[in-house]
Amino acid sequence: MKSKPGLFISFEGGEGSGKSTQIRHLATWFREQGRDVVVTREPGGSPGAEEIRNLILTGDPGRWDAVTEALLMFASRRDHVERTIRPALAEGKVVLCDRFADSSVVYQGYGHGLGADYIRNLWKLAIGDFKPDLTVIFDLPLEVGLDRAGARFANVSAAEDRYERMGLAFHERIRDGYREIAETEKYRCVVIDASGDIESVGERVIAAVQGRIAGQGT
Ligand SMILES: Nc1ncnc2c1ncn2[C@@H]1O[C@H](COP(=O)(O)OP(=O)(O)OP(=O)(O)O)[C@@H](O)[C@H]1O
Ligand SMILES: [Mg+2]
Repeated sequence: MKSKPGLFISFEGGEGSGKSTQIRHLATWFREQGRDVVVTREPGGSPGAEEIRNLILTGDPGRWDAVTEALLMFASRRDHVERTIRPALAEGKVVLCDRFADSSVVYQGYGHGLGADYIRNLWKLAIGDFKPDLTVIFDLPLEVGLDRAGARFANVSAAEDRYERMGLAFHERIRDGYREIAETEKYRCVVIDASGDIESVGERVIAAVQGRIAGQGT
């Protein structure tokens, strides 16, 4: 029997939009279809990249200047792609990634004002044309997302909350950035309404994934 090709799906959206929750849900769904699934996240996803994650997500909001932060992101991303993602895809696995390069385009490009083109140039330098087969973008009113994220942080000790503390105008630019990416890269991206209960959002995600992978032998 011919083995299935690897499938790389990234999940994007603001803080608390439900990425981690829905990835767990979708991982179960894929496993029920008999697929091997790797769940991973950015920044991080390989031992070296997890070390860089700690530098990026903790500490003062102004700890890094925007360019340094973008370079740290792409350094960790290259390690993640080379050590974790590509090997898993080569083995025919489904890779579900909690944030990927679109997060850099949106957070450093739109949020911190470096510009999307600047970040796309770094993308090309660091990992060439490598990109997800499908990117699921969760769209949610800002207040709802920050409330959900806040509830989550109440339960953890060393909070990785640098981005949560950057203010509403920043998060508004994030939401607009994602919408623009989805508009210009329709073939790769699908926007999911992330409001409503976990089950309803989960059904939307599975419908979107099924729609996109139909006919791809998956
Ligand atoms: N549809 C939903 N309705 C209500 N609460 C939800 C829903 N989806 C997720 N949550 C809850 O909201 C919080 C944030 O969800 P989750 O951690 O999945 O979001 P996230 O996008 O991964 O956030 P972050 O960017 O901060 O990692 C969690 O406590 C989760 O249980
Ligand atoms: Mg999460």
